[in-house]
Amino acid sequence: MTITLAFDVYGTLIDTHGVVIALEKHVGNKAPEFSRTWRDKQLEYSFRRGLMQNYENFAICTRNALDYTCSFCNVVLSQNDKEELLGAYKVLPAFDDVEEGLTRAKKAGFKMFAFSNGSAEAVETLLSNAGIRGYFIDVVSVDEMKSYKPNPGVYCHFLRRAGATGSDAWLISGNPFDVIGALSSGMRAAWIKRSPEALFDPWGIEPTLTLNSLLNLAEQIGKE
Ligand code: LAC
Repeated sequence: MTITLAFDVYGTLIDTHGVVIALEKHVGNKAPEFSRTWRDKQLEYSFRRGLMQNYENFAICTRNALDYTCSFCNVVLSQNDKEELLGAYKVLPAFDDVEEGLTRAKKAGFKMFAFSNGSAEAVETLLSNAGIRGYFIDVVSVDEMKSYKPNPGVYCHFLRRAGATGSDAWLISGNPFDVIGALSSGMRAAWIKRSPEALFDPWGIEPTLTLNSLLNLAEQIGKE
């Protein structure tokens, strides 16, 4: 049986806090708080749009969250500044362990996909810029379903698109809400806990695997 891996993108392959450098220019030492609030709001807006069935693509969640964060942090940015920051969001870096982890997983023979809230076009650009597009058979976007993670429908859609079943497919994600979403939809899931301080939601649903980077992913999944 060939194992299929669905790699989450933002926060798993790609470091969304990579935008901090661009932010420092505009908001100085508020950059870390600004970046965190921006990311949290972006996700909250995606959850709410999914629940409300009021879908707009992820770039709109990102843009609306930037406007909110400016007000929240008392920062005034010109339209040009905002466009520059939204531009930085399109060319974020991969985490340090990603290239090696993906190389090992590819060598182990897994069928690898990127699976994201981002539109296919945005994810293609992001992965190409980070030099890692070539590892993936395809990019599967929730945009095809006009909903967002963790709607169970988007995980089912992934399985259909990848020609996989829940028992032979894993979600690989740094986002606990995504891990719980995949497990609840019958997939297995590895939580990538890069920071020792990262917390998992206490819902009584545990990741199949917890790893501190992608480096040992292939080896550990091979043992399951
Ligand atoms: C993604 C979100 C979870 O890439 O950031 O799907």
